[in-house]
Amino acid sequence: VTSTLPTKVGSPRRESDAGQGAVSRAGARRLLHRGLSFLDAITTPHGIDRYLELVDPMLAVREIRGRVTKVVRSTPDTVTLTVRTSVAFTGFQAGQFVLVSVLIDGVRRTRPYSPANSQHSTDGFIELTIKADPNGIVSPYLVANAKPGMVLGLSVADGKFTMPQARPEKILLVSGGSGITPVLSMLRTLIDENYNGEIVFLHYAYTKADVPCRDELVRLAAAAPNVRLIFGYTDAKDGDLQGFFGEKHLKQAAPWHREAHTYLCGPAGLMKAVREHYSKIGLLDQLFVEEFAPTVTVNPGEATGAITFAQSRVATPNNGEVILKQAEGAGLHPEYGCRMGICYSCTQIKKSGCVRNIISGEISDDPDEQIQLCISVPLSDVTIDI
Ligand code: FES
Repeated sequence: VTSTLPTKVGSPRRESDAGQGAVSRAGARRLLHRGLSFLDAITTPHGIDRYLELVDPMLAVREIRGRVTKVVRSTPDTVTLTVRTSVAFTGFQAGQFVLVSVLIDGVRRTRPYSPANSQHSTDGFIELTIKADPNGIVSPYLVANAKPGMVLGLSVADGKFTMPQARPEKILLVSGGSGITPVLSMLRTLIDENYNGEIVFLHYAYTKADVPCRDELVRLAAAAPNVRLIFGYTDAKDGDLQGFFGEKHLKQAAPWHREAHTYLCGPAGLMKAVREHYSKIGLLDQLFVEEFAPTVTVNPGEATGAITFAQSRVATPNNGEVILKQAEGAGLHPEYGCRMGICYSCTQIKKSGCVRNIISGEISDDPDEQIQLCISVPLSDVTIDI
């Protein structure tokens, strides 16, 4: 059951986008693209962006950049960045992600982050809330070092974790930890659209102090009678719900969940618990999750062979995980970005052996083929040229 497609409501425009005769971002993009072929021809082999970025990285017209304009640290291990995007950015749908890259110790590192603002923002800004992953590189760096003026590399928005154009009549948004960002974007988008169906926003955190953007969530829910905000705390007793997700929580939070679409993003434990419960009650086709590439796709008991990292002179028995994880487990540090098959930063030469791409299912068994380590699992003895 769906409601009528809501009217798109725009956010206030930036001064430069408003007013008679002003050039909008879309208009600027059209004008720029007209002259780009000519400029690319005369700036070959480096391309126009290499010259423009000498003046200002935000002038790049082929590559997308973002300049941090505001930094808020609302919990001890998160940072919320307001980022002004360059003219090549074409927007996003609530729930999608962009690849964010930053130079750390001379190495460009890339990770996917979901904008948390409404997809209807027309002011050219995106908001990114980033939680420091103690085992990560990019997120701890940004939490510790982000400041206004910093320039980030961005990609076009991507991902299938989005709501249908015809919005469902009831929506349950479930998140945990940093998984809050894509569903917060959905909530803000629905509010911008004057959506009048029922929404429950159920977020899990250790304690109240660990909820990013908590004050704003409370403000949003107070202003929208159709939005119910529910906090589940796993390490404190002052939440609306205590402990981890289960049937009881679901019934308390959204007794109408059988009539709703549920959108879920969070840590592995939460994802597994919700998935298993929805499978048990036959509701999997109404559950939509932020999909990241799985790291284990071969049953560890069935994994055979060994991986040899030729240049490093390291070999390790195959445990069924993707090769990037196994290389890291063996003490190596291959380059990577998104870890989900998008950015190609982890591409390396497979010298011999057979691997499967876990996204496409394709088998590669020819020697000297390029493979993406983050989405390839060995199916035999494999030698990688790192
Ligand atoms: S790390 Fe991005 S494709 Fe592998």
